[in-house]
Amino acid sequence: MNKSKFTVTAALPYANGPLHLGHVAGVYLPADIFVRFLRSNGHDVVFICGSDEHGAAITLRAKKEGITPREIVDKYNKIIGDSFMQFGISFDIFHRTSTPIHIETAQEFFKVLEKNGKFIKETTEQYFDEEFQQFLADRYITGDCPNCGNSGAYGDQCEKCGSALSPTDLLNPVSALSGKTPVLRSTSHWFLPMDRHEEWLRTWIKEGILDGKQQHDPKAWRNQVIGQCLSWIDGGLRPRAMTRDLDWGVPVPLPNAEGKVLYVWLDAPIGYISATKQWALDNGKDWKDYWCNEERKLVHFIGKDNIVFHAIIFPILLKDHGGFILPDNVPAYEFLNLEGGKFSTSRNWAVWLHEYLERHPDKTDELKYTLTATAPETKDAEFTWKEYQARVNNELADILGNFVNRALVLTQKYYGGKVSACGELTAEDQQVLNEMKAIPQRIAGLIYQYKLRDAQAEAMLLARIGNRYLADNEPWKLIKTDPKRVETIMNVALQITANLGLVLDPFLPETAAKIRAFVGIEAQSWDKAGSTLLHAGDQTNIPSILFQKIDDEFVAKEVGLLHASQPVAATDFSPQKVEISFDDFSKMDIRLGTIVDAIRVPKADKLLQLTVNTGVDTRTIVSGISEHYVPEEVIGKTVAVLMNLSPRKIRGIESQGMILMAENKEGKLSFMIPEKNFETGGEIR
Ligand code: 2FM
Ligand code: ZN
Repeated sequence: MNKSKFTVTAALPYANGPLHLGHVAGVYLPADIFVRFLRSNGHDVVFICGSDEHGAAITLRAKKEGITPREIVDKYNKIIGDSFMQFGISFDIFHRTSTPIHIETAQEFFKVLEKNGKFIKETTEQYFDEEFQQFLADRYITGDCPNCGNSGAYGDQCEKCGSALSPTDLLNPVSALSGKTPVLRSTSHWFLPMDRHEEWLRTWIKEGILDGKQQHDPKAWRNQVIGQCLSWIDGGLRPRAMTRDLDWGVPVPLPNAEGKVLYVWLDAPIGYISATKQWALDNGKDWKDYWCNEERKLVHFIGKDNIVFHAIIFPILLKDHGGFILPDNVPAYEFLNLEGGKFSTSRNWAVWLHEYLERHPDKTDELKYTLTATAPETKDAEFTWKEYQARVNNELADILGNFVNRALVLTQKYYGGKVSACGELTAEDQQVLNEMKAIPQRIAGLIYQYKLRDAQAEAMLLARIGNRYLADNEPWKLIKTDPKRVETIMNVALQITANLGLVLDPFLPETAAKIRAFVGIEAQSWDKAGSTLLHAGDQTNIPSILFQKIDDEFVAKEVGLLHASQPVAATDFSPQKVEISFDDFSKMDIRLGTIVDAIRVPKADKLLQLTVNTGVDTRTIVSGISEHYVPEEVIGKTVAVLMNLSPRKIRGIESQGMILMAENKEGKLSFMIPEKNFETGGEIR
């Protein structure tokens, strides 16, 4: 392929919580693989990301944590940014949308659209929370989706069916602030008349349909993306408010717009542009070459819930502004599930990237490999620790690790680490070398089609071929009878090893670097992949083990952590009472007593009169248990007795103490009978 120019963006994560593996598998890791591959092909590429720091996602989180929005974004921007760096996601810049350069860029963009008459200013009735004195838009309001019935749809989008909504579309709307039904109040906003854009959008999106073209031709989009976009357009696009009544966000840069900020989905994608500007400033580049140059391909990696914003709204904004290129492709990913459930921040059903990296700082490639192998490219997929274990043990360790180790250890043993000479090639050798040559081309074809899962499988195929080649040829046996032949076998095996150091690089960068160090080569351009990279006499190094096997205990621990992090289910039990001192507690004299007699208290439905042997005396206790026990069944039971409760008269009978009972949610009572057969009088402490 000719050298091309790419601007690659990965959806700006909301700085309202850490990243989980679902985010990583469905946006950041595929984007990183794509970019690493482009770079190794010598394309001119910039890779942009940053924190999305505005919108209700942030302010609602701040409210929940009881800190300011600024504190929230500072906290999570750091956690997210650090985890990306540690995981080796190779952004050229990880920027922020609360920076002055972004605010200025977004305001300027808005002013151009406003000046050119691209908005309609309108006063409409919007939902308002009277208790919190706030208009409710976006995540501030939830309700039932009018399209799919999902009961947790937000005021700007249903994350289940992906459709774009307005608060007034929601059925049964509820304020996220007070939990109450909101009222309608009038307010003015700038609307983007999306309905005016249906025609060109339809034509433009249809250009993405494959229809006989190669998938890596410009605008050969994923079917799901095209299908969703066309169905929204066919359903009719409606004007959408581009401003909000909020105090956190980019202020609307016009007179008489106090208390109004830009809609976060106007502000956030402009964040890609402002991040590029900052990166260009830092690196002596012209940002316009990355956004305004028709030769450049703009690619947005996103999750499927972001399709409407990247394939419809942002292109309208870019076109309305003028001078910008439109996306060449919007590879959107489906969702990743986790151990039988959906990833959920609120239910804490997630593996958090930063926590994984804390627990397993030396296992980044193991996670990358598993996530790519199970990536939700065309349909939802699932991550399980059992599968992680199987992928690491059976594929990374047993195939890749085993092959690389064998090739290098045998080279050390037979030739002191020097690459052996390649003699006459057999048909099998030739076939293996042909595959080695063909695999990088196939990987490239798949990556340009955004089929990264298949591309990684192709790279692993080279390791499989190598592993099988050594197992079939058994150089460790042949060395005694045909050492000349072994020289050729080991040469071929080392060529494959060296090539693994190239073709694995986009997927498993750390492992690929280790392999290159083992065979003593530098990182090389993709053009070199498939060729014989080593020469007879080249010195290789003693390898270390590439992958440790994952034992069952590791899996059990991870699954246990997931379950242990579940919030305790809400119960009907009364909350814990106020704290008491140990002295308070030790004042109570509680013992095991045996009920020796029981009769009903006349005219009292609930009461039994019990005669109890406490080990120190025999006393009368009136107990409210007659709805739970008949007298005959309690006689002979050893129960807990509070001995030193002041005596009191109940229905004319003096009750000297209390029987302690356990109560369940339905209010049923049970004696607390000792688990061992302890005698009457034993103290309870
Ligand atoms: O869905 C999200 O997490 C958004 N913060 C993505 C924004 S992408 C871009 F437009 F900034
Ligand atoms: Zn829906």
